[in-house]
Amino acid sequence: MDKSFNASYTDYWAERVKQLSDGTKIADDGIVELFLPLLKIDKNDWLLDMGCSYGRFFPLLSKYSNHVVGIDIEASAIERASEYEYQELAVGALENLPFSDESFDKAFCWATFDCTEQEQALLEANRILKFGGSLLLTGKNIAYPEDDAVAFIAERNAKLKAFPNHFTDIKKLYALSTQFGFEITHGFVFKYRGDFGLAKAVPIDEAVLNSPFYEYLLVLKKTDSHNNLTDLICDTFSLTAKGFAQTEGYTDLIEFFKMHQEKNGI
Ligand SMILES: C[S@@+](CC[C@H](N)C(=O)[O-])C[C@H]1O[C@@H](n2cnc3c(N)ncnc32)[C@H](O)[C@@H]1O
Repeated sequence: MDKSFNASYTDYWAERVKQLSDGTKIADDGIVELFLPLLKIDKNDWLLDMGCSYGRFFPLLSKYSNHVVGIDIEASAIERASEYEYQELAVGALENLPFSDESFDKAFCWATFDCTEQEQALLEANRILKFGGSLLLTGKNIAYPEDDAVAFIAERNAKLKAFPNHFTDIKKLYALSTQFGFEITHGFVFKYRGDFGLAKAVPIDEAVLNSPFYEYLLVLKKTDSHNNLTDLICDTFSLTAKGFAQTEGYTDLIEFFKMHQEKNGI
């Protein structure tokens, strides 16, 4: 897949993780460590750090596995990540992984799934995982609470800067997980933007799935090869923003975001 990502993004991200730029804290090593045990990583496991950026999590991941491989679409990110002792590093897209079938035991995809064409990235994750292997995945949900103003501004600004952004229809992902060849073994949501960095996790059940929330964390176990995917699981706009635009009489979301930014700034 020929896909270029904004070359300044790695620098932005390296700074963003240190700051509370919109009042929210990005989930750090301490938060990752709360969930990483769900992957049951063995020291001998081959672990793929999907969207590894500059290697933010290598020091942590390498405590769990002796074979951490990193991939990121941005060459400058991989150049910075090469300061760490990754087993292997690759510049490439999660939608077209340069690895053989069933070559990994575990995969870790943190804060990156929303940048990708999610159906293709999940099919690829299934392909490169061994049977019984697991993927830890974080992403943004298709509908967040209407009173989450920070989430809305983040969506608006990302879109106006043309950052790739995808919102997962989590209910559809649960319904279609077997088509992707996965069983979802664990699921948590973080209702508001910022809740993730504060570890305000709510376990997924039927009621949670049917309510709005901003982010999610899932662990998916490969139970089969993927087969006959029948539907899409994501959109480049949230239902929440679409609802706001509709209320204001806009059918073009970009025009709506521009109007909102001109009127409200930030
Ligand atoms: C928000 S950063 C997260 C990085 C890292 N996982 C972390 O939490 O520090 C998203 C990363 O995904 C990478 N990325 C974006 N689209 C991608 C794609 N289609 N395939 C692979 N990497 C991608 C970006 O270059 C960036 O490094």
